[in-house]
Amino acid sequence: MTSADEIRDVQRAAWAGLSAGWEKWDSIIMDQLGPVGAAIIERLDIAEDHQHLDIASGTGEPGLSIARVLPKGRVVLTDLVPEMLDIAVRRARAQGIANIETEVCSADDLPFDDASFDSVSVRFGYMFFPDMAKATAEFARVLKPGGRLCSSVWIKPEKNPWTTIAMQAIATEAVPAPPDPDRPNMFRCAAPGYVTALYEAAGLRDVVEWDVDVELVTRSPAQYWEMMSEHVSLAVAALQQVDESARERIRAAAIANVSAFEKDGKVRVPGVARCIVGTAGTDRTRTE
Ligand SMILES: C[S@@+](CC[C@H](N)C(=O)[O-])C[C@H]1O[C@@H](n2cnc3c(N)ncnc32)[C@H](O)[C@@H]1O
Repeated sequence: MTSADEIRDVQRAAWAGLSAGWEKWDSIIMDQLGPVGAAIIERLDIAEDHQHLDIASGTGEPGLSIARVLPKGRVVLTDLVPEMLDIAVRRARAQGIANIETEVCSADDLPFDDASFDSVSVRFGYMFFPDMAKATAEFARVLKPGGRLCSSVWIKPEKNPWTTIAMQAIATEAVPAPPDPDRPNMFRCAAPGYVTALYEAAGLRDVVEWDVDVELVTRSPAQYWEMMSEHVSLAVAALQQVDESARERIRAAAIANVSAFEKDGKVRVPGVARCIVGTAGTDRTRTE
């Protein structure tokens, strides 16, 4: 088995396991990530009859929001994990969105013809791909000339207390493995210019990066911990390594630390994402 196959297998199992948490905490997660989806949509230059491809759609965003602004077009939602796309289909039905299709596939091996989409979005998917350069080459391949790719990744942990509070609490009981830059982790694409370099190597032009603020809002510190421990890949994986009493101490530490963010009867923890937009050129040669 190649390491790419192994990474896909690990990701498939991890996200199948996380899917219930994503459905349970849907409204809090979508409120937190909503500004990033809006920023992506704004730069995609969408017209009402466009064909749009959403990569690593998970439970459906930003693909479903894009489908709403394409009354004469269609959105193809894709993800490695069928359990996540099943939730996206349920959410689409609940929202009365019909102009979508779903396809289970890996970002680095897309089952679509060259130049078949007007735009491509990837919200918080890049860091999980086995081969990010190959995936970006695939996005450039399926884009029509002049079509836009817009994605988002998390920037450095210090700017994302919504996740570092949980990770610091976990680190009091479990020593996290040092991140391997060749394997998926939440902050793998955090360095400024990292995704820009991938876009440019795939032949995209006019590449621009900008930061977008987010805020995780829960009704209490206890709810913050409950949702973090049920849907964030890093936290769920780390908690599986420790026993019940350690999990209880971690919970107490996280709740104590996040209390500093209580304001007006809610817990509001900030974070920052980076969005990256680029345009497919007419020249499809790339450095692979
Ligand atoms: C953090 S979720 C993002 C979901 C959604 N785009 C959002 O922003 O709400 C990451 C998603 O990447 C998917 N994923 C992981 N590896 C993948 C791969 N190789 N190809 C496509 N999707 C992948 C996971 O299954 C998961 O649904």
